[in-house]
Amino acid sequence: MPGLTIGDTVPNFEVETTKGRFKIHDFIGENYVILFSHPGDFTPVCTTELCKMAAYSEEFHKRGAKLLGLSCDDVHSHIEWIKDIEAYTPGSKVTYPIIADPNREIIKQLNMVDPDENDSNGKPLPSRALHIVGPDKRVKLSFLYPASTGRNIDEVVRVLDSLQKAAKYKVATPVNWKPGDPVVISPNVSNDEARDMFPQGYTTADLPSKKHYLRFTNVE
Ligand code: BEZ
Repeated sequence: MPGLTIGDTVPNFEVETTKGRFKIHDFIGENYVILFSHPGDFTPVCTTELCKMAAYSEEFHKRGAKLLGLSCDDVHSHIEWIKDIEAYTPGSKVTYPIIADPNREIIKQLNMVDPDENDSNGKPLPSRALHIVGPDKRVKLSFLYPASTGRNIDEVVRVLDSLQKAAKYKVATPVNWKPGDPVVISPNVSNDEARDMFPQGYTTADLPSKKHYLRFTNVE
C-alpha cells in the first residue's frame, strides 16, 4: 500500500498515547496538526528533537497548530523517556501527546518506516517523518528524514507560516522566504484579478520572456 502523501486524508486511527486514547480526527478538530515520528525512545537525536518541540510549543499554539509525536515504543516507556526530555531542557514541558506503536501498524500506514533501521528483534523502526495536517484532515506538507539527521524545528515553523499564508491569500512563498518577506502571486491569478485582490499593489519582474508571471506583493 502506498504511504501517506500530500493531499491524502490522514486515516482516522484510534491511537494510544501518553495523554490517553483518542481518534486522530478528533484530536485534529479545527486545527493544524504537526504529526512527527521518531525512531525510538531513549535515543540521542530523538531526545533533542522532542526537547525542541516542547520548547517551541507556544510558537505552534500561536499559529493554531497542535503537536502529536509518535515513537514505536509503548506508553510506559514514553512516560519514562519524557522525564529525560524535560530534564535535558529545564523549563520545557512535553505537553503534547506521543503515540505508542509497538506493533508498527500506524507507522506503516502513515509512510513513516525507515527501510534501513530495525530494532534488535528485526522489527521496522520509524524514520523521522513529519506531516503537517490541515483542519480538513489532509496532509499539506511532509518531510522524510533518516534516523541520522535531526530536523530543524525553525523550518517546521517557517513552512507552517508559508502554508497558512497560501491558505489565506492566493499567494505562494519564494525561495528562502521568511515571515515579513514579499510573497509571490499565484500563477492562476490574472493581472486584473491581482489588482483587485492586492490593493496594496504588486511589482512584476521584467524577464527576457516578457511573461509577467513573477509578481511580488506584501501580505500580513
Ligand atoms: C537517534 O535518535 O539518535 C537515533 C535513533 C536511531 C538510529 C540512529 C540515531
